[in-house]
Amino acid sequence: MSTKRYDEIVVDLGDRSYPVYVGEELLGDVDSMIPDDVGKVAIVTQRNIGIVPQLTRPLEIFYIGDGEQSKSLGTIGELCSGFAEMGINRKDMILAIGGGIVSDTAGFAAATFHRGLRYGIIATTLLAQVDAAIGGKTAVNIPEGKNLVGAFWQPTFVVCDIATLETLSNRERLCGMGEMAKYAFLGAEGLDQLSLGSQISACVRVKAGFVESDEREGDRRALLNYGHTLGHAIEAVGFEDRAVNLKHGEAVAIGLIFAALLAKRLGRIDASRVDYHLRVVRSYGLPTRLPFDVDPDRLIEAMCKDKKSFGTLTFVLDGGSGVEVVRDVDPTLVREVLLELNNQS
Ligand code: GLY
Repeated sequence: MSTKRYDEIVVDLGDRSYPVYVGEELLGDVDSMIPDDVGKVAIVTQRNIGIVPQLTRPLEIFYIGDGEQSKSLGTIGELCSGFAEMGINRKDMILAIGGGIVSDTAGFAAATFHRGLRYGIIATTLLAQVDAAIGGKTAVNIPEGKNLVGAFWQPTFVVCDIATLETLSNRERLCGMGEMAKYAFLGAEGLDQLSLGSQISACVRVKAGFVESDEREGDRRALLNYGHTLGHAIEAVGFEDRAVNLKHGEAVAIGLIFAALLAKRLGRIDASRVDYHLRVVRSYGLPTRLPFDVDPDRLIEAMCKDKKSFGTLTFVLDGGSGVEVVRDVDPTLVREVLLELNNQS
Protein backbone atom coordinates (compact mmCIF):
# COMPACT_ATOMS: atom_id res chain seq x y z
CA MET A 1 0.00 0.00 0.00
CA SER A 2 1.07 3.61 -0.56
CA THR A 3 2.47 6.09 2.03
CA LYS A 4 0.88 5.52 5.44
CA ARG A 5 -2.24 7.59 5.89
CA TYR A 6 -4.32 4.99 7.62
CA ASP A 7 -4.48 2.95 10.81
CA GLU A 8 -4.04 -0.79 10.47
CA ILE A 9 -5.68 -2.77 13.24
CA VAL A 10 -5.14 -6.51 13.16
CA VAL A 11 -7.89 -8.80 14.40
CA ASP A 12 -5.60 -11.47 15.80
CA LEU A 13 -7.16 -14.88 15.29
CA GLY A 14 -4.10 -17.00 14.50
CA ASP A 15 -4.16 -18.21 10.91
CA ARG A 16 -7.47 -16.38 10.39
CA SER A 17 -6.06 -12.97 11.43
CA TYR A 18 -6.82 -10.01 9.21
CA PRO A 19 -6.18 -6.27 8.96
CA VAL A 20 -8.79 -3.55 9.28
CA TYR A 21 -7.64 -0.38 7.50
CA VAL A 22 -9.11 2.91 8.76
CA GLY A 23 -8.29 6.07 6.85
CA GLU A 24 -9.24 8.36 4.01
CA GLU A 25 -9.34 7.61 0.30
CA LEU A 26 -8.18 4.03 0.59
CA LEU A 27 -10.14 2.70 -2.39
CA GLY A 28 -7.12 3.03 -4.68
CA ASP A 29 -5.29 0.54 -2.43
CA VAL A 30 -7.90 -2.22 -2.50
CA ASP A 31 -6.31 -4.08 -5.42
CA SER A 32 -3.08 -4.47 -3.46
CA MET A 33 -4.98 -5.92 -0.47
CA ILE A 34 -6.31 -8.81 -2.54
CA PRO A 35 -4.05 -11.86 -2.17
CA ASP A 36 -1.84 -12.53 -5.23
CA ASP A 37 -3.29 -15.98 -5.91
CA VAL A 38 -6.87 -14.69 -6.34
CA GLY A 39 -8.09 -15.12 -9.92
CA LYS A 40 -11.51 -13.45 -10.21
CA VAL A 41 -13.44 -11.14 -7.92
CA ALA A 42 -17.23 -11.20 -7.46
CA ILE A 43 -18.32 -7.83 -6.08
CA VAL A 44 -21.54 -7.83 -4.03
CA THR A 45 -23.06 -4.41 -3.47
CA GLN A 46 -26.25 -2.32 -3.82
CA ARG A 47 -27.10 -0.01 -6.70
CA ASN A 48 -27.16 3.18 -4.61
CA ILE A 49 -23.65 2.65 -3.22
CA GLY A 50 -21.83 3.52 -6.41
CA ILE A 51 -18.34 2.43 -5.34
CA VAL A 52 -16.30 0.07 -7.49
CA PRO A 53 -12.54 0.11 -6.90
CA GLN A 54 -10.14 -0.31 -9.82
CA LEU A 55 -9.03 -3.94 -9.86
CA THR A 56 -6.48 -5.65 -12.08
CA ARG A 57 -8.41 -8.96 -12.05
CA PRO A 58 -11.55 -9.91 -13.94
CA LEU A 59 -14.60 -8.94 -11.93
CA GLU A 60 -18.38 -9.09 -12.06
CA ILE A 61 -20.79 -7.02 -10.00
CA PHE A 62 -23.81 -8.56 -8.26
CA TYR A 63 -26.42 -6.17 -6.89
CA ILE A 64 -28.63 -7.08 -3.97
CA GLY A 65 -31.75 -5.12 -2.96
CA ASP A 66 -32.04 -2.54 -0.20
CA GLY A 67 -33.54 -3.23 3.22
CA GLU A 68 -33.58 -6.15 5.63
CA GLN A 69 -35.85 -8.16 3.30
CA SER A 70 -32.86 -8.56 0.95
CA LYS A 71 -30.91 -10.34 3.65
CA SER A 72 -32.60 -13.62 2.74
CA LEU A 73 -31.88 -17.19 1.71
CA GLY A 74 -33.42 -16.24 -1.66
CA THR A 75 -30.68 -13.65 -2.17
CA ILE A 76 -28.02 -16.20 -1.16
CA GLY A 77 -29.42 -18.60 -3.79
CA GLU A 78 -29.32 -15.89 -6.48
CA LEU A 79 -25.77 -14.86 -5.56
CA CYS A 80 -24.49 -18.43 -5.54
CA SER A 81 -26.08 -19.14 -8.95
CA GLY A 82 -24.43 -15.97 -10.24
CA PHE A 83 -21.05 -16.98 -8.81
CA ALA A 84 -21.41 -20.42 -10.43
CA GLU A 85 -22.24 -18.86 -13.83
CA MET A 86 -19.24 -16.57 -13.47
CA GLY A 87 -17.06 -19.62 -12.81
CA ILE A 88 -15.96 -18.57 -9.34
CA ASN A 89 -13.85 -21.28 -7.72
CA ARG A 90 -12.01 -21.79 -4.44
CA LYS A 91 -9.10 -19.55 -5.44
CA ASP A 92 -11.39 -16.59 -6.17
CA MET A 93 -12.74 -13.95 -3.87
CA ILE A 94 -15.93 -12.13 -2.94
CA LEU A 95 -15.73 -8.39 -2.26
CA ALA A 96 -18.60 -6.90 -0.24
CA ILE A 97 -19.07 -3.15 -0.71
CA GLY A 98 -21.72 -1.54 1.50
CA GLY A 99 -23.18 -1.51 4.98
CA GLY A 100 -24.14 -4.36 7.29
CA ILE A 101 -26.84 -5.76 5.00
CA VAL A 102 -24.28 -6.26 2.23
CA SER A 103 -21.46 -7.59 4.45
CA ASP A 104 -23.78 -9.99 6.34
CA THR A 105 -25.25 -11.36 3.11
CA ALA A 106 -22.09 -11.46 0.98
CA GLY A 107 -20.19 -12.88 3.96
CA PHE A 108 -22.68 -15.73 4.37
CA ALA A 109 -22.57 -16.45 0.62
CA ALA A 110 -18.75 -16.50 0.90
CA ALA A 111 -18.94 -18.82 3.92
CA THR A 112 -21.02 -21.38 2.03
CA PHE A 113 -20.21 -21.19 -1.70
CA HIS A 114 -17.69 -23.95 -2.51
CA ARG A 115 -17.75 -24.62 1.28
CA GLY A 116 -16.08 -21.30 1.95
CA LEU A 117 -14.33 -18.60 -0.08
CA ARG A 118 -12.22 -15.67 0.97
CA TYR A 119 -13.99 -12.31 1.13
CA GLY A 120 -13.01 -8.72 1.70
CA ILE A 121 -15.24 -5.91 2.96
CA ILE A 122 -15.31 -2.24 2.02
CA ALA A 123 -17.58 -0.93 4.79
CA THR A 124 -19.40 2.20 3.64
CA THR A 125 -21.55 3.04 6.68
CA LEU A 126 -20.47 4.11 10.14
CA LEU A 127 -22.44 1.21 11.65
CA ALA A 128 -20.57 -1.29 9.48
CA GLN A 129 -17.19 0.32 10.12
CA VAL A 130 -17.48 0.20 13.91
CA ASP A 131 -19.47 -3.00 14.23
CA ALA A 132 -21.02 -5.13 11.48
CA ALA A 133 -17.93 -5.59 9.29
CA ILE A 134 -15.64 -6.57 12.17
CA GLY A 135 -15.69 -10.01 13.72
CA GLY A 136 -16.93 -12.41 11.06
CA LYS A 137 -20.59 -12.69 12.02
CA THR A 138 -22.44 -13.35 8.77
CA ALA A 139 -26.15 -14.14 8.52
CA VAL A 140 -29.45 -13.75 6.72
CA ASN A 141 -32.99 -13.46 8.05
CA ILE A 142 -35.83 -15.98 7.81
CA PRO A 143 -39.51 -15.22 8.57
CA GLU A 144 -38.99 -16.66 12.07
CA GLY A 145 -36.30 -14.15 13.00
CA LYS A 146 -33.42 -11.84 12.13
CA ASN A 147 -29.95 -13.32 11.55
CA LEU A 148 -31.18 -16.85 12.33
CA VAL A 149 -29.19 -18.52 9.55
CA GLY A 150 -25.52 -17.68 9.40
CA ALA A 151 -21.92 -18.59 10.09
CA PHE A 152 -18.84 -17.22 11.77
CA TRP A 153 -16.61 -16.57 8.77
CA GLN A 154 -13.80 -14.07 9.07
CA PRO A 155 -12.94 -11.76 6.16
CA THR A 156 -9.47 -11.44 4.61
CA PHE A 157 -9.43 -7.65 5.07
CA VAL A 158 -11.77 -4.81 5.99
CA VAL A 159 -11.52 -1.26 4.62
CA CYS A 160 -13.10 1.59 6.60
CA ASP A 161 -12.71 4.59 4.31
CA ILE A 162 -13.98 7.71 6.07
CA ALA A 163 -14.50 9.46 2.72
CA THR A 164 -17.29 6.97 1.92
CA LEU A 165 -19.26 8.29 4.93
CA GLU A 166 -19.66 11.76 3.43
CA THR A 167 -22.77 10.79 1.50
CA LEU A 168 -24.56 9.25 4.49
CA SER A 169 -27.76 10.97 5.57
CA ASN A 170 -27.87 12.41 9.07
CA ARG A 171 -30.17 9.60 10.23
CA GLU A 172 -27.83 6.94 8.84
CA ARG A 173 -24.95 8.61 10.64
CA LEU A 174 -26.96 8.56 13.89
CA CYS A 175 -27.48 4.86 13.38
CA GLY A 176 -23.71 4.34 13.61
CA MET A 177 -23.30 6.89 16.40
CA GLY A 178 -25.36 4.76 18.81
CA GLU A 179 -23.03 1.80 18.30
CA MET A 180 -20.07 4.14 18.59
CA ALA A 181 -21.29 5.63 21.89
CA LYS A 182 -21.51 2.09 23.29
CA TYR A 183 -17.73 1.65 22.98
CA ALA A 184 -17.14 4.60 25.33
CA PHE A 185 -18.33 2.27 28.11
CA LEU A 186 -16.52 -0.83 26.86
CA GLY A 187 -12.97 0.43 27.15
CA ALA A 188 -12.71 3.41 24.78
CA GLU A 189 -12.95 6.10 27.47
CA GLY A 190 -12.71 9.68 26.14
CA LEU A 191 -13.93 8.50 22.74
CA ASP A 192 -16.15 11.52 22.14
CA GLN A 193 -13.10 13.81 22.37
CA LEU A 194 -11.37 12.25 19.30
CA SER A 195 -11.56 12.99 15.55
CA LEU A 196 -13.96 10.79 13.57
CA GLY A 197 -11.15 8.64 12.12
CA SER A 198 -9.56 8.12 15.54
CA GLN A 199 -12.96 7.25 16.99
CA ILE A 200 -13.50 4.59 14.33
CA SER A 201 -10.01 3.16 14.95
CA ALA A 202 -10.61 3.13 18.72
CA CYS A 203 -13.96 1.31 18.27
CA VAL A 204 -12.37 -1.24 15.91
CA ARG A 205 -9.58 -1.87 18.46
CA VAL A 206 -12.09 -2.49 21.25
CA LYS A 207 -14.21 -4.74 19.06
CA ALA A 208 -11.15 -6.66 17.85
CA GLY A 209 -10.23 -7.34 21.49
CA PHE A 210 -13.66 -8.83 22.21
CA VAL A 211 -13.60 -10.94 19.05
CA GLU A 212 -10.07 -12.21 19.74
CA SER A 213 -11.03 -13.35 23.23
CA ASP A 214 -14.38 -14.89 22.31
CA GLU A 215 -14.80 -15.31 18.56
CA ARG A 216 -17.97 -17.40 18.77
CA GLU A 217 -19.76 -15.44 21.47
CA GLY A 218 -19.45 -17.97 24.27
CA ASP A 219 -19.58 -15.20 26.87
CA ARG A 220 -17.44 -12.05 26.60
CA ARG A 221 -18.48 -11.07 23.07
CA ALA A 222 -22.08 -10.81 24.33
CA LEU A 223 -20.98 -7.66 26.20
CA LEU A 224 -20.95 -5.92 22.81
CA ASN A 225 -24.73 -5.95 23.22
CA TYR A 226 -24.49 -3.21 25.85
CA GLY A 227 -27.63 -1.06 25.47
CA HIS A 228 -29.22 -3.55 23.07
CA THR A 229 -31.72 -5.37 25.33
CA LEU A 230 -33.96 -2.33 25.65
CA GLY A 231 -32.78 -1.08 22.23
CA HIS A 232 -34.11 -4.18 20.46
CA ALA A 233 -37.37 -4.04 22.48
CA ILE A 234 -37.93 -0.40 21.49
CA GLU A 235 -37.36 -1.31 17.85
CA ALA A 236 -39.73 -4.31 18.08
CA VAL A 237 -42.55 -2.38 19.78
CA GLY A 238 -42.07 0.71 17.60
CA PHE A 239 -42.20 -1.50 14.53
CA GLU A 240 -45.39 -3.30 15.69
CA ASP A 241 -47.11 0.04 16.35
CA ARG A 242 -45.64 1.73 13.27
CA ALA A 243 -45.33 4.48 15.89
CA VAL A 244 -41.96 5.76 15.09
CA ASN A 245 -39.20 5.40 12.56
CA LEU A 246 -36.41 5.08 15.08
CA LYS A 247 -32.93 4.16 13.84
CA HIS A 248 -31.12 1.26 15.50
CA GLY A 249 -28.45 3.57 16.91
CA GLU A 250 -31.09 5.83 18.47
CA ALA A 251 -32.76 2.83 20.13
CA VAL A 252 -29.37 1.62 21.43
CA ALA A 253 -28.61 5.10 22.80
CA ILE A 254 -31.84 5.07 24.84
CA GLY A 255 -30.92 1.52 25.90
CA LEU A 256 -27.54 2.75 27.17
CA ILE A 257 -29.17 5.38 29.40
CA PHE A 258 -31.70 2.85 30.65
CA ALA A 259 -28.86 0.40 31.44
CA ALA A 260 -27.01 3.11 33.38
CA LEU A 261 -30.11 4.00 35.42
CA LEU A 262 -30.75 0.32 36.14
CA ALA A 263 -27.12 -0.27 37.14
CA LYS A 264 -27.37 2.66 39.54
CA ARG A 265 -30.58 1.28 41.09
CA LEU A 266 -28.77 -2.04 41.59
CA GLY A 267 -25.90 -0.22 43.37
CA ARG A 268 -23.41 -1.10 40.61
CA ILE A 269 -22.52 2.49 39.61
CA ASP A 270 -22.99 5.96 41.08
CA ALA A 271 -24.69 9.12 39.81
CA SER A 272 -21.50 10.47 38.22
CA ARG A 273 -21.26 7.39 35.98
CA VAL A 274 -24.91 7.89 34.93
CA ASP A 275 -24.00 11.50 34.10
CA TYR A 276 -21.09 10.24 32.00
CA HIS A 277 -23.53 8.07 30.01
CA LEU A 278 -25.80 11.08 29.49
CA ARG A 279 -22.89 13.28 28.43
CA VAL A 280 -21.56 10.77 25.90
CA VAL A 281 -24.96 9.97 24.40
CA ARG A 282 -25.87 13.67 24.12
CA SER A 283 -22.48 14.50 22.58
CA TYR A 284 -23.46 12.30 19.63
CA GLY A 285 -26.82 14.09 19.28
CA LEU A 286 -28.63 10.92 20.29
CA PRO A 287 -31.87 10.67 22.30
CA THR A 288 -31.81 9.75 25.99
CA ARG A 289 -35.50 8.94 26.46
CA LEU A 290 -38.30 7.13 24.62
CA PRO A 291 -39.69 9.20 21.76
CA PHE A 292 -43.20 7.72 22.01
CA ASP A 293 -45.64 6.61 24.72
CA VAL A 294 -45.44 2.92 25.38
CA ASP A 295 -46.70 0.68 28.13
CA PRO A 296 -43.58 -0.46 30.07
CA ASP A 297 -45.04 -3.98 30.27
CA ARG A 298 -44.86 -4.31 26.50
CA LEU A 299 -41.19 -3.41 26.57
CA ILE A 300 -40.61 -5.88 29.41
CA GLU A 301 -42.35 -8.64 27.43
CA ALA A 302 -40.23 -7.84 24.36
CA MET A 303 -37.04 -7.84 26.48
CA CYS A 304 -37.89 -11.30 27.87
CA LYS A 305 -38.19 -12.54 24.28
CA ASP A 306 -34.74 -11.22 23.33
CA LYS A 307 -32.86 -14.24 21.99
CA LYS A 308 -29.94 -13.54 24.32
CA SER A 309 -32.19 -13.35 27.42
CA PHE A 310 -33.32 -16.98 27.57
CA GLY A 311 -36.79 -16.01 28.87
CA THR A 312 -35.71 -13.94 31.89
CA LEU A 313 -34.75 -10.28 32.12
CA THR A 314 -31.05 -10.30 31.29
CA PHE A 315 -29.00 -7.15 30.78
CA VAL A 316 -25.44 -6.13 30.13
CA LEU A 317 -24.76 -3.65 32.95
CA ASP A 318 -21.91 -1.38 33.93
CA GLY A 319 -20.21 -1.85 37.30
CA GLY A 320 -17.03 -1.38 39.31
CA SER A 321 -15.15 -3.93 37.19
CA GLY A 322 -16.64 -2.91 33.85
CA VAL A 323 -19.71 -4.22 32.04
CA GLU A 324 -21.00 -7.73 32.69
CA VAL A 325 -24.08 -9.86 32.06
CA VAL A 326 -26.65 -9.65 34.88
CA ARG A 327 -29.47 -12.21 34.81
CA ASP A 328 -32.89 -12.49 36.47
CA VAL A 329 -33.43 -8.79 37.11
CA ASP A 330 -36.70 -8.10 38.96
CA PRO A 331 -39.42 -6.95 36.48
CA THR A 332 -40.84 -4.51 39.09
CA LEU A 333 -37.49 -2.72 39.25
CA VAL A 334 -37.24 -2.70 35.44
CA ARG A 335 -40.72 -1.13 35.22
CA GLU A 336 -39.72 1.57 37.72
CA VAL A 337 -36.53 2.34 35.80
CA LEU A 338 -38.45 2.58 32.52
CA LEU A 339 -40.68 5.21 34.14
CA GLU A 340 -37.61 6.98 35.55
CA LEU A 341 -36.05 6.95 32.07
CA ASN A 342 -38.82 9.14 30.75
CA ASN A 343 -39.04 11.36 33.80
CA GLN A 344 -35.40 12.48 33.68
CA SER A 345 -34.96 16.26 33.87
N1 GLY B 1 -22.54 -6.99 16.71
C1 GLY B 1 -22.10 -7.73 17.83
C2 GLY B 1 -21.02 -8.71 17.51
O1 GLY B 1 -20.42 -8.65 16.45
O2 GLY B 1 -20.76 -9.58 18.29
